[in-house]
Order: sequence, then structure tokens, then C-alpha cells
Amino acid sequence: MALRRTLHKLASSGSFRSVYRVRALSTQTTTKENEGQSSKQTHFGFQTVDEEEKWKKVHEVFETVAEKYDLMNDAMSFGIHRIWKDIFMNRLAPTHGTKLLDMAGGTGDITFRYINYLKSLGPPPPGKESSVTVCDINQAMLDVGKVRAQRQGYTKESCGVDVSWVCGDAEQLALPDDAYTAYTIAFGIRNCTHIDKVLEEAYRVLAPGGRFLCLEFSHIPNDTLQWVYDQYSFQVIPVLGQLIAGQWRPYQYLVESIRQFPNQEKFKSMIEDAGFRQVTYENLTFGTCAIHSGFKI
Ligand SMILES: C[S@@+](CC[C@H](N)C(=O)[O-])C[C@H]1O[C@@H](n2cnc3c(N)ncnc32)[C@H](O)[C@@H]1O
Repeated sequence: MALRRTLHKLASSGSFRSVYRVRALSTQTTTKENEGQSSKQTHFGFQTVDEEEKWKKVHEVFETVAEKYDLMNDAMSFGIHRIWKDIFMNRLAPTHGTKLLDMAGGTGDITFRYINYLKSLGPPPPGKESSVTVCDINQAMLDVGKVRAQRQGYTKESCGVDVSWVCGDAEQLALPDDAYTAYTIAFGIRNCTHIDKVLEEAYRVLAPGGRFLCLEFSHIPNDTLQWVYDQYSFQVIPVLGQLIAGQWRPYQYLVESIRQFPNQEKFKSMIEDAGFRQVTYENLTFGTCAIHSGFKI
């Protein structure tokens, strides 16, 4: 019965049509004139919404999926997200003494890899204390992360790394200038309304010499592979969301938001515009996602 309802939803979903028009859509915010009042508009997946509404909708999405977030990541990516995140941490290659800001850190996947990486280096030399601040706009995601951290022993006492969990908006951080030596953001930036503001804030809070590293879904530079990936994304992922998490809409948003995100080159130039230097990127799994790197010099 549940499967029939799911298939019905799938058949009646507008997503199949939407996928073909996505490339024509702009990721830029636009201004709508409405009876003398102007309100800024942006995209929430394929919908055009007011900026304020997008903020609320993104918040709702992660509020809704928090409990099943980790399970769904494994199901949707066949566990490959774990390999992407491992590669991401190997590229960061933190050393003892790193002060990391793990932005949009959610349930802690990047933070836990960071701690494991530092542990693998052996005990820190005296005076080389490392820390990580996990920052996310959604307290529900952070709460799941904190429980995981407790259960898996990622506490200061047991791992020697100072871990703090902070609820905050990547676009407007209540954090000091030049405070961190590394800034990571994994699968978070495409959910933000103003990518340029997120990048400006990343630049501000990083100390000179600090590194920005972003892992995000991206674009496959091969039309046939992109088509295959689109079929999987739009036809399978929302169904999995319905079957495993009992939620269709958040997973529909997920695949739509991926298509809306700027391609590798465009995102690279946005990072450069924020002031970062030596900006490079690396595609993972044919460009399904990409790691962008830059330095505050
Ligand atoms: C797909 S999850 C990624 C979580 C984690 N980094 C990972 O890789 O598993 C995206 C996260 O971005 C957070 N987020 C969305 N908009 C944000 C914003 N403006 N500032 C900070 N976090 C935000 C969401 O609450 C969510 O936890």
C-alpha cells in the first residue's frame, strides 16, 4: 500500500519535467516588484520563493530529516559519501594545532573524521592543542551530532581535541576575525541563500594562511552520465526518502538544490571573488561532487 502511494506520488511529481528546464534557471537572487513593495527572491530547489521563505524551508528540511539523516546518506549514496568525506579530510590533512571551523557541520561527519585524522598522527607535542567548532543553523542536526559524539567518545577528555557545538548562520557568524586556521563546509553551502556572504564570512574568520575547503555536489561534464545520474536522482532518491524516512519533499528538494548549484568553474570564481587565492578544485566520482580549495593569503 505504502509502495503504491509512493509510486503514485512519483508518477504525479513535476520533477521529471523540471529536470529538463533546470539548466535554464539562474542561481542568482532576483527582485520582485509587488504593489510598490519589493522583496528579494531566490530558489528553493526548482521553486522561486522569497528569501525569508527559503531560510524557513531549508530549516524545516533539516529539522525533518535530522533523525534519519545519517541512514539516508548511506542509502542514497550506497555509502559512497563516506569515501568522499574521507578523501575530503585527507585533502585537508590537518596537523596538531589546527583550529577548525566545521561549518554546516550537521551531525558531525566531518568533525569526527578530523578528530580521527589527528589521532592517527599520534600524541600532540606540548602546546599544540587542536580544536573544532561545529557550527550549524539547525539545532536538531547539532543535537543528533552531540549524541553521536558522546556515544563514539569524541569528547575532549577521550580524544584530546577541544570540540564545541554552536548554532549559527554561515552567512552571518557571531565569531571573531582571523580565529581559525581551517574552514570546512561539506554539503552545506548549496543550502545557503547567499553563497557570496558565506564565502565572505569564511574569509573573515580565517587567519592569514588559513585554508577554505568545500565539498559539494557538482556537475558531471558528460551529458550521457549526467542523464543517467539525473534519472537516478529524480526517480529513486525521493522514493527512498519516502520509504526509509517517511518523507518525500525534503529529498525532492535535495536533488533539485543539487541541480541549482553553480558548476565547478563558476563556484571557483565565486571563491576567488571573496578574496581567496590559489583556488583549485578536484572532481570526485565523475563530478558528482567536487572539492574546492582556497587560501587566505
Ligand atoms: C546536507 S547537511 C551536511 C551536514 C554535514 N556537513 C555532512 O556532510 O554530513 C547540510 C547542513 O547545512 C546546514 N545549513 C543550511 N543552511 C545553513 C546556514 N545558512 N548556516 C549554517 N548551516 C546551514 C543544515 O542545517 C544541515 O545541517
